[in-house]
Amino acid sequence: MTNPRGNGLRSVAEQSEEERGGPGSILSRQSRDHADLDALMRAYDDEPDADARGRVVAELAERALRHAFAEETVLFPAYRQHLPEQGEELTRHIEGDHQQVNELLVQLQDADPRSPDYDATVRRAFEVIRHDAHDEEDDLLPRLQRVATEEELRAIGAAWEVQRRTAPTRPHPKVPRRPPGNALAAVPLAVTDRVKDAAEHLAAGSAVRRAALAGALVGAVVAAVAAARALRRR
Ligand SMILES: [Fe+2]
Ligand SMILES: [Fe+2]
Repeated sequence: MTNPRGNGLRSVAEQSEEERGGPGSILSRQSRDHADLDALMRAYDDEPDADARGRVVAELAERALRHAFAEETVLFPAYRQHLPEQGEELTRHIEGDHQQVNELLVQLQDADPRSPDYDATVRRAFEVIRHDAHDEEDDLLPRLQRVATEEELRAIGAAWEVQRRTAPTRPHPKVPRRPPGNALAAVPLAVTDRVKDAAEHLAAGSAVRRAALAGALVGAVVAAVAAARALRRR
């Protein structure tokens, strides 16, 4: 299989986990999360019920936003550091795609999955998310792999995972896509997002959802503490 970009690089999609630097490497972590996002997009396609499709989109949105936020705060700065000559153009392009996804997800957040425009907006978001995964797997990550050691790829992977877990859970298109602005905004946003998530669970009212409320509030506190620690380390 050759790289669809024709750039002479070995796409992450063509590589074994060992070649990617092991399960903790940023290449392996990205590849697994892209596959999970793709599975959610396919679940949307296969789901006939509108309300259920709305729930799939909500799950996909949270996962895609956390993924992208961790790229903007960890992966892209590391990429620009390793490739100062060419790092700017590609990360600027992907950040533009992330911005588009944030804007589309804001539109979808309060939209009715039965409305005529809903599916078209979802399809636009899917297209950008898939394009973004290709930019990373076929281009950005193999370029990073050429200049970073496996140890560095694993360190970037670990830092990316920490940011992904504590990231805001809702779209915030007005927040800058680069550090330090995005990292500074993340502390209060990660907390307020989780409180809103918890309020929605509470409004839904079941015992299971009340248990989820407790989990979400604990998550808010954990996110605040972890984000504050991450900022202190910068
Ligand atoms: Fe991305
Ligand atoms: Fe990615």
